[in-house]
Amino acid sequence: MSQRFKLKIVARKALLLLAGFTGVSAAGAQAIEQKATVCKACHLTGTLQSTSVVPNIWGQSEGYIYIQLRDFKSGARNAPEDAAMRGFVATMSDADMLEIARYASTQPWPKVEPISTDAALLKKGAYATALVGCGGCHFNDWRGFSANPRIGDQTTAYLAATIRRFRSGSRANSPGMSDLVRTFDEGDIDAVAAYLNAAH
Ligand code: HEC
Ligand code: HEC
Repeated sequence: MSQRFKLKIVARKALLLLAGFTGVSAAGAQAIEQKATVCKACHLTGTLQSTSVVPNIWGQSEGYIYIQLRDFKSGARNAPEDAAMRGFVATMSDADMLEIARYASTQPWPKVEPISTDAALLKKGAYATALVGCGGCHFNDWRGFSANPRIGDQTTAYLAATIRRFRSGSRANSPGMSDLVRTFDEGDIDAVAAYLNAAH
């Protein structure tokens, strides 16, 4: 089964869960852990595969998570791959987004594997990021801060995909990032993704 098809099935199940939870919410208090159960159907905790196109969000910067949820809702982040996320945020209020962003940011960063051991590829990625100065904003060993996301130890497939979308303009919510990654050669992208994935 293709990753995209599997995601569609999970999305349908998760939307049903979300519909159920909205009812509970109207009735009274609802623990944030319960709300996050929906998210964990796709954003796995524990161990993730480097080949997954679903990004890790646990332990990610609070400000960054909030901005993405806001951008999914407004349509500022509206690539075809964002359809599932846009469905989830449609019914979320600003307060819901802030609450889930805060909760997610306090969770442990999962283990992401396998990590590439291709020395030439990793070196190429290190060189390309140093040349553009990516660490200037994604500092602190690629852990970022506030609105600047952690990009180290993220899944390789997601990093490569989102960098390509910044380049093509399909991910249009950060023109600054689009300009920066347009300075890469196409061949640099997989190396940069492998290098960042290996950066702990
Ligand atoms: C059906 C699967 C699915 C579910 C359930 C899901 N997501 Fe996502 N989420 C995705 C995918 C796929 C992406 C990547 C979209 C892309 O490539 O642009 C994503 C992206 C994100 C991002 C952006 C991450 C980044 O690094 O830019 C955030 C934040 C996020 N999701 C939060 C949540 C939250 C909070 C929930 C629960 C309310 C949730 N997601 C539920 C599939 C899902
Ligand atoms: C001037 C500061 C700055 C520099 C330099 C910078 N970034 Fe970013 N980057 C950001 C910000 C801010 C975001 C969040 C954009 C958004 O809100 O969607 C981001 C987002 C990203 C993302 C998306 C993360 C995710 O989870 O979806 C990736 C990947 C990324 N940057 C890689 C790079 C690479 C590679 C370089 C070097 C070419 C770089 N960045 C240079 C500020 C910067």
